[in-house]
This record gives sequence, structure tokens and C-alpha cells, in this order.
Amino acid sequence: MPLKLSCATTDPSKASADLLALGVFAGESISTTAPIDAIDKLLGGALAEVIKHREFTGKKDQTIEIESLGRLPARRLLLVGLGEEAELTVETVRTFAARSARSANGAKATSIAYGIPGKLDAEKARALGEGLVLGAYRFTKYLTGERVPKAELAKATLLTSGKLDKVRKSAELGFKIGTCVCYTRDLINEPANELTPIALADYAKNVAKKHKLACKVYDAAAIKRMGMKLFVAVAQGSVNEPRMVHLTYKPAKATKKRLVVVGKGLTFDSGGLCIKPAAGMGEMKSDMSGAGNVVGFMAAVAELAPNVEVHGIIAAAENMPDGNSYRPGDVFGSLDGKSVEIINTDAEGRLVLADALSFATKLNPTVLVCNATLTGACVVALGTHCSGFYATKDELAKQFGDAAKEAGEQFWHMPLLEDLREQLKSDVADLKHMGDRWGGSITAALFLREFVGETPFIHCDIAGPALADKPYSFYAKGGTGQGVLAFLRFLETL
Ligand code: BES
Ligand code: ZN
Ligand code: ZN
Repeated sequence: MPLKLSCATTDPSKASADLLALGVFAGESISTTAPIDAIDKLLGGALAEVIKHREFTGKKDQTIEIESLGRLPARRLLLVGLGEEAELTVETVRTFAARSARSANGAKATSIAYGIPGKLDAEKARALGEGLVLGAYRFTKYLTGERVPKAELAKATLLTSGKLDKVRKSAELGFKIGTCVCYTRDLINEPANELTPIALADYAKNVAKKHKLACKVYDAAAIKRMGMKLFVAVAQGSVNEPRMVHLTYKPAKATKKRLVVVGKGLTFDSGGLCIKPAAGMGEMKSDMSGAGNVVGFMAAVAELAPNVEVHGIIAAAENMPDGNSYRPGDVFGSLDGKSVEIINTDAEGRLVLADALSFATKLNPTVLVCNATLTGACVVALGTHCSGFYATKDELAKQFGDAAKEAGEQFWHMPLLEDLREQLKSDVADLKHMGDRWGGSITAALFLREFVGETPFIHCDIAGPALADKPYSFYAKGGTGQGVLAFLRFLETL
């Protein structure tokens, strides 16, 4: 049964669910404050004891999880510290909802009830809906027999004292947005033998149909005909043909603003002739995370229905070693006419993106946002929970950085250091596609910038956070979809 969300004004102590998840603000008299006081009474004072012994003070991320042993209508109780009430953020609410849903999955619960003290504003109700879906998410498609999960969350109830209609509407929007982010996760988690560039384009087409977006798919011949020689070069070593996808959201009453988001869609990156070491190569099925983000983002845009025109561009290809692969030393033209000398065939992402960005620039965007699992260097710099981003203007960087922060996603502003531009000079062509090892994430960004002309440009290197080795915050293990919520927030600031 698919998960459903409803809202109710039921008192948490009377709520029946497999898991009752209660957010608790930091304070001294937790056990005597509603609704814990009523629950403690039903439990004969046992909860107050546990709170005392575990030194649970409602600090952020503290939890207590107990069985109710038939003394509450709820089978299990989870208390989650939310920190100070005055400092409650959207991210804290989303993470509370997500980690509770993860606990529910772990406890084989089919129903969950959420309680947060006080009134939920629209933003936080939406975050709760998002967190529910994002936390409940599991990728189980390929599991059989014993490995199939025994239970699935089917029912979630948001217990609230706020205006029910308003809260419901916002929570439902969050639920829908969360569902869209799960498209991204499914795409990332899908193995590369299944998710070829053609399959990725087909998936995008289906999402477009479902969410009433326009969708145009360019096949290998069309990509070639348009003159995307760098894109073709990367794809030529694979038997799986490349595809470019153009998704469009056009509102009836649009402002003059136009956002274009581009995603790297390498369904597998073996490194090509400059082949990667075997250890960790399997993770390169996630090298289409930028494209996955575009799919999830565009679907969420359709749900949000802003009055700004939004385009999503996906450059999908596979990077493989083959008799027909492109080689180091090769020189290719690009869509915008520059010639590029290939140094290392594993720096393929910036090549497909160069042509996709030139294409996107022709759409005349107010802002052009690129996102890609582009460099290991960015992961070395920022770790696996934070993406790097570059912007061609400081105001734009501020606007995007603030939006990501408000969305509760970690993005750090990186510099487009002009000194490093020199490394992209080639003896035989207009440009080399990479520089030396140091500052590798920056030179990649500088290379991309060559293909956007004067268009205000943001490039996000999501190589670290795209895939998680364990769940954290509101992210699942595996594909995370990190970026989609930041892009949505950014769109809302336009
Ligand atoms: N897809 C990789 C980058 C990557 C690394 C993504 C780790 C996720 C996790 C990219 O195509 C790549 O191989 N980049 C090379 C560039 C180098 C050859 C200049 C890298 O980062 O090593
Ligand atoms: Zn690569
Ligand atoms: Zn790659």
C-alpha cells in the first residue's frame, strides 16, 4: 500500500499508531509539559524515569525510543530532541520527520503519528511532509525472498493544533516534493546495466508526462547533427547511445525570469581509456546524479507551480573503454565552436556539460545552474556531506548560498580563481579540458565557464553528497538527491 498522509487534532496521548514520534523542545520540565505529561501518566510515571536516567533534555538529535507495552494507544514511542523552540529550523523539522520514519521502518511499523508542540507554520508543515517521504524511502526493487521488507509504512498522521486546512495543504505539498526527490534517488540507485542513457531519457519522459511538463529527447543522431562534438566524443566508446533531454515548465502567467538547470548524466563512468581503479568503480553508477536532480527538481517545480519559467537539461552518456573510445591527445570542436584538447578521458563530465551549457545558454536564462558529480577534488576539499558551488557574480553566490542554507542543504561557495585559468591553455587547441591536480574542482568550474558566455552562471559540484554510505539528516543511504531542495528554494527567491 502506498504511503498516505493525513492531519488530525487528536491529542498525542490518544493517538493510535505503530510509532508515535514526538518532537520535544529543550527545557527543564519535559516530563511535566504536554503532551509528555499525559503520556507519562498512562505509563505510570515510567517515561519520566527514563527521561531522567537517559538525561534527555530535548537537545537536538537526542532520542528515546520505547515500547508502550499496551499502555498507550500507540505501540511504540519515539521522543526526538528539537533543541530550543526559538531556534527551530525547517531542516530540524524535516530531519525529525525523516529519522522518525526511518525508525518506523526499522520497527516494521505500518503507521506513524507525528506530534510537534506549538503551531506549525506553512514552511515547517511542508518540511514535515518532505521528511516523512524522504525518511521512509528505501530502494528495495532488486530484493527477493527473505530480503523483501516485512512491513511498509502506509499511514502517517500529523497531529497538530494549528489550522488544519492550512497545515494539511502545506504538508501535502511537502509530501509531493519529497516524492519527487525520491525519483532522483531511484535513478541514482538504479544499476548502470539497467539505467542506460536511453532508460534515463525514458524515465524523464514518463515523469514529464505524469507532471505535465514538456519534454524533448534528442537521440545520438540529433546530438551529432546539432554539433555537440564533445558530447559525442565522450559517448563514442559505449554501445549505449547518448541522449539529451530538455524538460520545460511554462506557467500560464510567467514573470520575465527564466531558470535553466543542467545536469551531468553519466549513467556510468569507468574513466574510459584512462580507466579508474576497480575499487569504488561501482559507485560511478551515481555519476548521473546531476541529471537525476534535474528530473526530481523539474517534477517538484510542476508541483510547486511557480510563476517563473523553468527548463531542465540532461546530458546522458556512458564513458567506456573501447576500440572506438576517445583518447588523450584527441582534439574536438564544441557546440560553440571552440576546439578542445583531451588530456584525461576520465574528466568526461565537463565535456558533455560544455555542449549542454552552450545549448542551455541559447535559451537565454536569467540564471543558469549546472549540477554535476564533477570532481574527486571537491570531495577532498569539502567532504561527503557538503557540495561546492561556484558563481560568476558575488550577489548570485550570496543568493544561492542563502537559499541552500534555508533549505537545510550544505553548499559551500568556492572561488573561480582567475590565476588557474592559465592551466587550461593548450598548444594545439583553444583549450585543454583540465589543469594539474591542485585546485582540480576550480579548474573544472573554470572550464565550464568558458561555455556560458555572459549568462549569470552557478555550477554545483555535488560529487561528495550525491551518494551516502549511511543515512544522515533527511538523506537516505545510497542516492540522496542532495541539491533538489536547494534549487527549489533558490527558484522561490527569483
Ligand atoms: N565522476 C568523476 C568524479 C567523481 C569522483 C564523482 C568521486 C564522484 C565521486 C569524474 O568524471 C572524474 O573522474 N573526475 C576526475 C577528474 C580528473 C581526471 C581531472 C577526478 O576527479 O579524479
Ligand atoms: Zn570521470
Ligand atoms: Zn564522471
